[in-house]
Amino acid sequence: MVAIRGAVLERIGAPRPYARSRPITVSELELAPPGPGELLVRVEAAGVCHSDLSVVDGNRVRPVPMLLGHEAAGIVEATGDGVHIAPGQRVVLTFLPRCGHCPACATEGLTPCEPGSAANGAGTLLDGGIRLHRAGQPVFHHLGVSGFATHAVVSATSAVPVPEDVPPSVAALLGCAVLTGGGAVLNVARPVAGQTVAVVGLGGVGMAAVLTVLAHDGVEVIAIDQLPEKLAAASGLGVQRTYTPQQAVDAGVRVPMVIEAVGHPAALQTAIDLTAPGGRTITVGLPAPDARISLSPLGFVAEGRSLIGSYLGSSVPARDIPKFVALWRAGQLPVQQLVSATITLDAINEAMDRLADGTAVRQVITF
Ligand SMILES: NC(=O)c1ccc[n+]([C@@H]2O[C@H](COP(=O)([O-])OP(=O)(O)OC[C@H]3O[C@@H](n4cnc5c(N)ncnc54)[C@H](O)[C@@H]3O)[C@@H](O)[C@H]2O)c1
Ligand SMILES: [Zn+2]
Ligand SMILES: [Zn+2]
Repeated sequence: MVAIRGAVLERIGAPRPYARSRPITVSELELAPPGPGELLVRVEAAGVCHSDLSVVDGNRVRPVPMLLGHEAAGIVEATGDGVHIAPGQRVVLTFLPRCGHCPACATEGLTPCEPGSAANGAGTLLDGGIRLHRAGQPVFHHLGVSGFATHAVVSATSAVPVPEDVPPSVAALLGCAVLTGGGAVLNVARPVAGQTVAVVGLGGVGMAAVLTVLAHDGVEVIAIDQLPEKLAAASGLGVQRTYTPQQAVDAGVRVPMVIEAVGHPAALQTAIDLTAPGGRTITVGLPAPDARISLSPLGFVAEGRSLIGSYLGSSVPARDIPKFVALWRAGQLPVQQLVSATITLDAINEAMDRLADGTAVRQVITF
């Protein structure tokens, strides 16, 4: 057993502000040693993503108490049997373990691993086990990572080694924001010179998509968000055209690829409205399960358009994270610019408020 400190969501649907209702408590927990095929990681940095907030606010119902955090990086301290990653190695943790054997894993990222998704829904590691306890009682894992803690035990299939020169906060963001937003660009949109990509929603995921488009020579990016400060932040990254959703519609924007990275039906509606004939609307946001939009089927048929969902950027992490590392190293993907604040674990409830307000790009907890 290792004694760790971690941020545990105690109850779902607490009223805002979370700074007052404090649904997340930081406490001591016991972490069991890694089993076969697992790693013990000393967490160095963890990003706060809307998918964490979606558990807090009940948009994505998960079992509690749950140790949150699914976008993290750290140093391997110990390994179970059959693991080919050595202690001392820096790893990016990703939020969907891949069994490597199911039909979904054979689709090269197109569909999410079935046992991995089942374990994530149940709040366990890939083998169905729980390594986290508090005062003897089990605490659920978040998306196989539970990175808001000093240490984590994860399936080795949740970890991708990265070279030492990738700083911890950059490595953490590679695990969710970049893999999701950037993966939607590399694996689904696949723009070529002369094309334009619009991104709706400029949080960590949307901004990572924006940065990835900017890394493509000759491809234009349009950044859309309802908050003026997000449009200013996009301009700061080098985006020339920024709009609120209404401004984009009024300006008659219609482009061949639109990525929705909000997780709200209104934003998907905007993304569909901005997609040109023959174009593709790519949705990565995760709205509440009962959310619906109304579509004109004729518009899709008569204009030859399509709507594509993308989980984890349709990525194979071990294949795609090295691509993002290469772009970062070449100075073409300044991931560090997505970090809007560096915070301590104790400020997690306040961080959830800022995320819910939409004012943060990525807040990163460092240990
Ligand atoms: N598909 C996946 O694998 C995957 C992975 C990670 C996150 N996500 C989801 O992606 C979404 C984005 O995550 P994030 O962490 O970047 O979120 P975020 O909260 O940091 O950013 C969302 C942004 O959308 C903006 N926004 C809100 N409503 C809008 C509207 N109607 N039109 C335009 N902009 C609007 C907000 O101002 C904010 O800037 C969430 O739903 C999250 O759960 C999906
Ligand atoms: Zn995430
Ligand atoms: Zn699988």
